[in-house]
Amino acid sequence: MNAPQTALHGWAAGEAGRPANPDWTIPQRWESYTPKEHATWATLYRRQMALLPGRACEAFIDGMRRLPIEADRIPNFEQLSEVLMRSTGWQVVAVPGLVPDEVFFDHLAHRRFPAGQFIRRADQLDYLQEPDVFHDVFGHVPMLMHPVMADFIQAYGVGGLRAQRLGALEMLARVYWYTVEFGLVREQGALRIFGAGIVSSAAESVFCLASSSPHRIGFDLPRVMRTRYRIDDFQQTYFVLDRLDDLLRLAEIDFAPLYQQVAALPALAPDAVLPDDAIITRGDSHHHRARPPQPA
Ligand SMILES: [Fe+2]
Repeated sequence: MNAPQTALHGWAAGEAGRPANPDWTIPQRWESYTPKEHATWATLYRRQMALLPGRACEAFIDGMRRLPIEADRIPNFEQLSEVLMRSTGWQVVAVPGLVPDEVFFDHLAHRRFPAGQFIRRADQLDYLQEPDVFHDVFGHVPMLMHPVMADFIQAYGVGGLRAQRLGALEMLARVYWYTVEFGLVREQGALRIFGAGIVSSAAESVFCLASSSPHRIGFDLPRVMRTRYRIDDFQQTYFVLDRLDDLLRLAEIDFAPLYQQVAALPALAPDAVLPDDAIITRGDSHHHRARPPQPA
């Protein structure tokens, strides 16, 4: 998308973004956020909280209610961690931005969620490729209050370290993308959002449920492991869980034999539809047809 060129953070900034700690953690320095930065949080928070009732799943709304996440200020990670630790044993640690895969997986495997310390600029409210404190805290942390998601994300960290050794990271990353980041779930006869990439985006919170453009397909693990995804635009396909508890089953599966099976099959385009798909709504793709293709 047409994001302005900006200074990158963390791993995306190369050697200049690497902090002194080998686990890439830094102090949050909550006191050093400026009034302008808190105001950016407030704008994003209010916009999402007006949109999400009736769209986000119950677990997200419940997690948000129980955490010290407020409208007018960037949350303090220590206060978040106190509540999380008592509920599901997680904590939030500050990092400068993206971190290397093995660092990310190791944090998750130890129930530490690495959250970007910085907040986007006021002219980047609608789009930012790097995860900032709004995406990471508003989007991800409420779901960490849910015991199933808490266990699933830890299992993903353990699985990620293993997938790296097996050369299967791409397949595992697709599972994370289509669940933790862009997942939908059935709830009380409707579709609801649980993915952090959606709940932290005003436009995609509406698009993913209301637009006739994307496909919505029942979640199937080998299918998801084959499906490429877009990082530059709304998703062309959303995969739908029947219930959040299905993530528990996923966390228990031995992925190693699946990697071998899936690696033997061709990868699928983000908008592919297969004869065996459990199609909930077949999209007309009008949104992506009207836009230039993803840059290589
Ligand atoms: Fe994320």
